[in-house]
Amino acid sequence: MSVPRSAALIPDEAFAVLTGWLPANDDHARPLISLATVDADGRPDARSVLLSEFDRSGFFVHTDSRSRKVADIEAHPEVAFSIAWPADLRQLTVQGVARRASPDEEASAYARRSRYLQLLAWLNTPEFALFPTGEQEDKWAAFEAAHPDGTLAAPDTWLGFVIEPTRLTFWEGNPRAASRRTEYRRATDATWSRAILPG
Ligand SMILES: Cc1cc2nc3c(=O)[nH]c(=O)nc-3n(C[C@H](O)[C@H](O)[C@H](O)COP(=O)(O)O)c2cc1C
Repeated sequence: MSVPRSAALIPDEAFAVLTGWLPANDDHARPLISLATVDADGRPDARSVLLSEFDRSGFFVHTDSRSRKVADIEAHPEVAFSIAWPADLRQLTVQGVARRASPDEEASAYARRSRYLQLLAWLNTPEFALFPTGEQEDKWAAFEAAHPDGTLAAPDTWLGFVIEPTRLTFWEGNPRAASRRTEYRRATDATWSRAILPG
C-alpha cells in the first residue's frame, strides 16, 4: 500500500545543489548510498543501496520486501543516508522519513534496472542463497533463458521507498581553508531553514 506523500518539497536552493552533485536520473550508473535504519528494538543497521532516482519529493530506493531494512522501516520510518565523493571533497547526508513509493514508480524503476538486477530481484531468495555455486549458476541460466529480456515484470517482493528529507547536509572541503556544511532543516510546519556549520 502506498502512503500519500506530504506536500513538503525540497527547497529550490538545495535541489539545485543536488542536481549538480548527483547523476541525472537517466544516467545508467546509479550512485551508491549508505542507508541507515533502526530496528524495532532500537538497534541501528546500515547497508549500501543504489539511489534509483530523486526528485523534489525525495530520494527513491528499491529493495526486497523480505529484507531487514523493510522490517526496520515498518518499525521506524525515520532513516538516514550518506554518500561521499572524496575526490570532489563533497558529502551529502540526509535524514528523512521513508514512505512506500507508488506502484507506478516501483514498476518503472524495475523496468530501468539492468538485466542482471531484474533477474536478481526474482532469484535473490533465502532458498536460492543455499544452493552450491554451480547449481545456482545452472538455475540462473535456466531462469534467464526462460525469460527473455523485456518479458519480466517485477516480482511481488520488489518494493520501493521514497525518503522524504527532513534534513539535508552538504559538506564541502577546501584544501586551502576549513571544510564546512550547508544544512537545510525542515520544521514541523514544512518550512525550511538554512544554517552554515563547521565541517
Ligand atoms: C554495490 C551494491 C549495491 C546494492 N544495491 C542494493 C539495492 O539497490 N537494493 C537492495 O535492496 N540491496 C542492495 N544491495 C545489497 C544490500 O547492501 C544488502 O546486503 C541487502 O539489501 C540486504 O540488506 P538488509 O537485510 O540490511 O535489508 C547492494 C549491495 C552492494 C554492495
